[in-house]
Amino acid sequence: MSEVIAIDGPAGSGKSTVARAVAERLGWTYLDTGAMYRALAIAARRRGFNIEDEVALGALSQSAKLELGERVLVDGDDVTDDLRLDRTNRDVSIVAANAEVRSSMVQRQRDYVATAPGGVVVEGRDITTVVFPDARLKIFLTASLEERARRRGEEDVESIARRDEADSTRTTSPLRKADDALFIDTTGRSVDLIVEEIVQCL
Ligand code: CDP
Repeated sequence: MSEVIAIDGPAGSGKSTVARAVAERLGWTYLDTGAMYRALAIAARRRGFNIEDEVALGALSQSAKLELGERVLVDGDDVTDDLRLDRTNRDVSIVAANAEVRSSMVQRQRDYVATAPGGVVVEGRDITTVVFPDARLKIFLTASLEERARRRGEEDVESIARRDEADSTRTTSPLRKADDALFIDTTGRSVDLIVEEIVQCL
């Protein structure tokens, strides 16, 4: 099993930027698990599924071929341009609360790491608590709601607050800080500083 740095935190906390920068700095790969849930939500809509249909979504999560690179593909269909749509922001909270979807995504994330050529920086909502609780380093990133909304730009503050609430209160794998995760508040701090702090902890 490759080494893992696991990063969780709410929307706009800087996870993707920081995770990508840490991976680049270490020569590791980077896995954006949020893109997996978003891609499934888009694929379900494009197939005309009711997003609340737990059985249909569960089956899709098992069968879909997900390709995560510069472009994100589901069964060969390019969903990249829809990843950050308002509709996707809404749908993804419902898809991510589906227990069968989660167990299938978690399995894929573990498989990804098991076959990765070196270390992997993995970011999401349940990475430190459920997917890789034994990761070499576990981090909970956050920032003030105002700063998170500012960073997001096109997603408004109500939408971010709604997703945070949904992610933190759902029954299956809610977003929470693992007891032994390092807590980093990124409010007013540069990406370089955060990356340095993380790399120093290895
Ligand atoms: O970039 P941002 O933090 O706004 O969101 P994201 O990482 O793309 O994740 C989108 C949504 O997917 C989150 O609001 C969660 O509902 C869900 N998600 C999850 O449940 N578990 C993960 N490991 C990653 C994302």
